[in-house]
Amino acid sequence: MLNFNFYSPTEFVFGKGRAAEAGHFVKKYGGTKVLIHFGGGSAVRSGLIDTVKKSLGEAGIPCCELGGVKPNPRDTLVYKGIELCRAEGVDFILAVGGGSVIDSSKAIAIGVPYDGDFWDMYSGKPVEKALPVATVLTIAAAGSEGSGDSVITKEDGMLKRGTGSDLLRPRFSIMDPSLTQTLPAYQTACGATDIMAHVFERYFTNTTEVEITDRLCEAVLLTMVKETPRVIADPDNYEARANIMWAGTVAHTNLCGVGREQDWNSHGLEHELSGLYDVAHGAGLAVIMPAWMEYVHDHNVMRFCQMATRVFGCQMNFEDPEATALEGIHRFRVFLKSIGMPINFDELGAKEEDIPTLVEKFGIGDGTTGGFMKLNKDDITKIYKLAAHASL
Ligand code: NZQ
Ligand code: ZN
Repeated sequence: MLNFNFYSPTEFVFGKGRAAEAGHFVKKYGGTKVLIHFGGGSAVRSGLIDTVKKSLGEAGIPCCELGGVKPNPRDTLVYKGIELCRAEGVDFILAVGGGSVIDSSKAIAIGVPYDGDFWDMYSGKPVEKALPVATVLTIAAAGSEGSGDSVITKEDGMLKRGTGSDLLRPRFSIMDPSLTQTLPAYQTACGATDIMAHVFERYFTNTTEVEITDRLCEAVLLTMVKETPRVIADPDNYEARANIMWAGTVAHTNLCGVGREQDWNSHGLEHELSGLYDVAHGAGLAVIMPAWMEYVHDHNVMRFCQMATRVFGCQMNFEDPEATALEGIHRFRVFLKSIGMPINFDELGAKEEDIPTLVEKFGIGDGTTGGFMKLNKDDITKIYKLAAHASL
């Protein structure tokens, strides 16, 4: 195991009806004027925004509102949010929504105290200051409610880029699984795929002797394999929703990833897909992640056998370990298809002829990238090709 620090300062406020406590927690964490930031309308329609506003009012905390965050959140709304916060003297940002709303909130939080263009921090400059952010989560997926990351798309050129800092970790995150019961099945499945991908990016490592984090990763993956079909079949199943919601957070606070090298190439390859085609991040991952697995499996066949036997219930074939590894990847893809995810470019709405553009935008030039297996431009092209033609 490698040396590590684990810092996860967020207070997680979990359970039914907890959004009514938003005002109490904003006060606890020092907010005196709040921006409520939300998406395209689901949080308004469900009455959640009213609940949050009422709670802030009861706590005596004034607020202003900015809705309209799109999936794959755009820089253009971030600029509006920064202006609004400055004009209104906002000192605390409350994201009410999913990963896109939370990431947009984090970007606004960076931009308000910064003299230059907030995009600098999405182009490599470290985050030095940010307003406090908190969340009321409405979808189990990105893990942004517990992470220090934010991913924003620059509308000009549809360039999707991320930044990360402990300053962006939410002060608190209210997580009421019943809020996710209104999600369309497709969004539920996209979220489940993202949660599993966050684990896989950590699971495939060259670091040895990491039994505890291996087992934590497998626990999250097994939970997702069991609970996702339950909520797809029965969207109102609170207990299954609750297990998935906590799995999403555990998957991405880095609890499962400490002390081990990680990879993140699948996420990088996916961000180019959701950047270019504006598809859901989870759907892009469903196409990319198994293709990446196929391409890199022989880098460490036994690690893929471990996934196949422990997570997907494959029988170990000691004569032919590679067959076991490939069977595990196949079962992952079958699982994704069974929950309604696309598995190739056609189903996603991507085009094979765009592969050179995707590779170019990925932007590694003649270098390599990745923690499990280093990939160059040629490797990346081959993975996109595998993803383009995948079938069961
Ligand atoms: O905008 P509204 O109307 O709210 O609709 C949203 C949106 O259309 C809808 N939705 C959310 N909660 C709902 C609901 N509909 C009905 N009932 C509810 N309770 O779901 C759609 C998707 O929402 P979005 O926030 O985009 O989903 P998600 O949480 O998957 O976030 C995706 C974004 O997070 C980024 C992704 O790249 C993508 O841009 N990521 C952020 C990470 C981070 N900050 O740590 C890590 C991830 O790997 C990921 O890259
Ligand atoms: Zn993700």
